[in-house]
Amino acid sequence: MHRTHHCAQLSPADLGATVSLAGWVDTIRDQGGIIFVDLRDREGVTQIKLEPHDHATLAGQLQQLKPESVIGISGTVVRRPAGTENPALPTGGVEIEATALEIHNLAETPPFPLDDAGGDKVNEDLRLTYRYLDLRRPKMRKNLVVRHRASKSIRDYFDAAGFIEVETPALFKSTPEGAREYLVPSRIHPGQFYALSQSPQQFKQILMVAGVEKYFQIARCFRDEDLRSDRQMEFTQVDVEASFVTREDIYALFEGMLKKLWKDVLGTDIITPFLRLPFAEAMNRFGVDKPDLRFGLELEDFTETFRPSAFKVFAATVAAGGVIKALNAKGLADLTQGELKNLEDIAKSLGAKGLAFIKVEGGEWKSPIVKFFSEAEKAALTARLGLVEGDMVFFAAAPWEKACAILGRIRLEAAALLQKRGKLTIRHEDWRFLWVVDFPLMSHDEAENRYVATHHPFTAPVAEDAALLDTDPKRVRGQHYDVVLNGMELGGGSIRIHQPALQKKVFEDVLKIPADMVESRFGYMLKAFTYGAPPHGGIAFGLDRMVALLCGTTSIRDVIAFPKTQKGQDLMAQSPTPVTARQLKELHIQTVMPE
Ligand code: AMO
Ligand code: AMP
Repeated sequence: MHRTHHCAQLSPADLGATVSLAGWVDTIRDQGGIIFVDLRDREGVTQIKLEPHDHATLAGQLQQLKPESVIGISGTVVRRPAGTENPALPTGGVEIEATALEIHNLAETPPFPLDDAGGDKVNEDLRLTYRYLDLRRPKMRKNLVVRHRASKSIRDYFDAAGFIEVETPALFKSTPEGAREYLVPSRIHPGQFYALSQSPQQFKQILMVAGVEKYFQIARCFRDEDLRSDRQMEFTQVDVEASFVTREDIYALFEGMLKKLWKDVLGTDIITPFLRLPFAEAMNRFGVDKPDLRFGLELEDFTETFRPSAFKVFAATVAAGGVIKALNAKGLADLTQGELKNLEDIAKSLGAKGLAFIKVEGGEWKSPIVKFFSEAEKAALTARLGLVEGDMVFFAAAPWEKACAILGRIRLEAAALLQKRGKLTIRHEDWRFLWVVDFPLMSHDEAENRYVATHHPFTAPVAEDAALLDTDPKRVRGQHYDVVLNGMELGGGSIRIHQPALQKKVFEDVLKIPADMVESRFGYMLKAFTYGAPPHGGIAFGLDRMVALLCGTTSIRDVIAFPKTQKGQDLMAQSPTPVTARQLKELHIQTVMPE
């Protein structure tokens, strides 16, 4: 029995044809001796009518048939009786009168329902344990297809723009400047290790020295990070590097890629060029370097208002060089005690000492701190926050970055609470892309008392700031840029340092990496740069994150065929696992178990 059609193909145009279909039993119904099977394959569903009394051999076979069994059938395409058509299905006008049935495999009853709604209700661990069943659900199948379309759209785009795809090694070496790495022991070199590549960063820069000029790769990357809904230990980047380019070239190239991608996958025209927001402005207004621009609720600065305040908490913070930030969560005065407590806990988890607030209710300001405020302070708040009945204001008094981060998070929580109350609408398809630019090149790590690269150590300083590298590295802006969409960092990159002397200076004088360590980690790169390195720059996008947004899901696990759980496990194949003593010996490894 050889398949002649797929299950979304037949229509009244095929009446009378003899056909063979194959697939999974979606549903099976016995209606007075006549059996109806909805047969499902990748493309869709076709109704099969089996009359066992015509076919004695069928009767016995049918008794064993449970949903999800795999069968083949042959028969004739007939019109469904009037009134029984299903206009919702492409095949809803016809059914197949089966003359032969072949059972390829019987199925056990699945541990959870395989329709979209039913599957969404079950625990994700169960879905991941039986991922092959989960992936049969229409929604998950669609996600796989969207991912395929996205990769294809991106490959076509870069190909047309003259970029070539080059594969770089997954087995690289340890360069502990970035995220925590996965180490791979060498059997041939006892005591030595490879590290799985965190990104093709160094190789793509070397490819520029090699004269490739325009490189891209859909590359698997590995990082030993704490997993979240937008982070996996193994993920995919759309990685790009080009020679003789400026930041403007990269912006235009990637706006074009995203425009094509959204058009190809969703048929949507996104607006280009994207808004550009300097890092400091993003922090000041939205409290985060990846702002969600689909709603307002912007932060306001009241540092100067409270510098002379009688409220000690605020005045002391300002005196110590900190700032006072406020956020008017408009219309959230009906916050419950539990919700308020939760917001306070969140603020505290980010290092806040408290979360001062003012609730405007019944024509009054209800607040534990307002008794300390002068009339001038109250007037400033009313005016700048546009305070009216029903408003809820939160304050953070802390060093600048911390105060921004606390209220940035409260802003997102407040938006979710307002949305729950129907007071704010945030639409998934409201695509607000932006570039965040002018990041500081270096940030100061207080714990280690040294500078660390904000992005990575290969990013070039903005030309007019380069002189500050010697005197005040904190004030140097990097030629770095991030693409952000609706609160998610989609990608980031930079124009790179291409002069070996400047790169060496950043490693040794600014980042204070000892010279011998610079040589052992990055010596090969510095050497390559002495043989003619073109100016170059690039970017990498998280493919998983882009596809998740295209699919309208918040978890990248939904767009990865076989993701790991939050605890880094593969529940289906059951990994990680212990290995044998012999394997360890061969790799010259001894394990020490935690107490
Ligand atoms: P960066 O580290 O910012 O840059 O990574 C680029 C993009 O990769 C995605 N991403 C992740 N996605 C899922 N799970 C993870 N654990 C994860 N980590 C990162 C994000 C992020 O924006 N080599 C540089 C790029 C460059 O400078 O060209 C780099 O890797 O979407
Ligand atoms: P206290 O005087 O410490 O009792 O604080 C008075 C109010 O201010 C309480 O509601 C605290 O939650 C809040 N608060 C204390 N410190 C801060 C801070 N750094 N930022 C914002 N609110 C604070």
